[in-house]
Amino acid sequence: MRAASLFRERFGGEPDGVWLAPGRANLMGEHTDYNDGFVLPFALGQGITVAAARRNGRRLTLCSRQEPADVVEVDLDGLAPGRVTGWAAYPAGVAWALAEAGHRVPGACLAFDSDLPVGAGLSSSAALECATALALTSLGGLDVPRAELVTIARRAENEFAGVPTGIMDQSASLLCRAGHALLLDCRSLETSQVPFDPAAADAGLLLINTRARHELADGEYGQRRAECEEAARRLGIPSLRSLTDLADTDSLTDPVLRRRVRHVVTDNQRVLEVVALLRAPSGPSADTFREIGRLLTQAHASLRDDFEVSWPEADVAVAAAVDAGALGARMIGGGFGGSVLVLVTETTPVRAAVSEEFARRSWAGPGFLDAAASAGARRMA
Ligand code: GLA
Repeated sequence: MRAASLFRERFGGEPDGVWLAPGRANLMGEHTDYNDGFVLPFALGQGITVAAARRNGRRLTLCSRQEPADVVEVDLDGLAPGRVTGWAAYPAGVAWALAEAGHRVPGACLAFDSDLPVGAGLSSSAALECATALALTSLGGLDVPRAELVTIARRAENEFAGVPTGIMDQSASLLCRAGHALLLDCRSLETSQVPFDPAAADAGLLLINTRARHELADGEYGQRRAECEEAARRLGIPSLRSLTDLADTDSLTDPVLRRRVRHVVTDNQRVLEVVALLRAPSGPSADTFREIGRLLTQAHASLRDDFEVSWPEADVAVAAAVDAGALGARMIGGGFGGSVLVLVTETTPVRAAVSEEFARRSWAGPGFLDAAASAGARRMA
């Protein structure tokens, strides 16, 4: 275990434990979480591992195999948003949010390692938070239910690291189960496990890292949130979740806001359609995954044309994958860079076609990852 060996190199001695929190992909429901809507993510086999030990004193010492130049010392009694920046803001933010919630965080040494591709939009920051949350609560003997850890990890991201995301990524990392996608109602925060095993019907999941990350991305995410809030305000509803019928948006005259709303309403519907398909009493069949594939490609068009968060490499990857026989494909995550999720029956022709289209445009070669719905965050040793 590489986190444990990093711990020994940096701190000497053995860690008290090793914890893993996975990254996530999202089957359906994009930009719906902060609109109180539905999402359907699943955990990946890849994630962030932390080897950690308790120690005397009121400090955290943080190091990471991916940031070899940095060993960061954090004073637990002087934590406040803005005091720690860079990658260490995420683990330090978790310590801060735990203390804000009334928990006594112990002094500790933590060594992190990751096998998530960097910048691929697979929620490495949420994984970093969730791994830290499990390690610190375990080392401190704190009994904090998973649902509360989700809220704490999200506070670390929103208020300490200052990134205005919704609640999907932390929920996925902490609450997912192997062989299932997680249906999360972001209004009630109710969750349920939905069996999701494409391999049983001879289908599979391929993630394509488009290796693109466009400038502007952060501002655009906040702008989409603001547009959705503005649309809800003009419609006189608490959030876009209250809408189920697009006919109810007739009073909204602004064409941009109308498109944003159409995406959110239809994507919420697509989440429920996918769940109904996966839960069909007869059990999922090849037809189930053909239908889910169709919904994926439809969702991509909605993200591209109505929500306008897609990017050229994602559009090319989706088109090439579908032309090469994929059941369906779409961009995942916040947009403007990151990964595309493809539902396939055969991966080889899809990989070849996407690589060829990227090469034709002189783009950096895409990265491929075979994905399967994996277990959520857990103690490894
Ligand atoms: C990012 C955010 C999530 C969610 C997605 C879009 O991944 O972290 O909260 O809003 O974008 O669905």
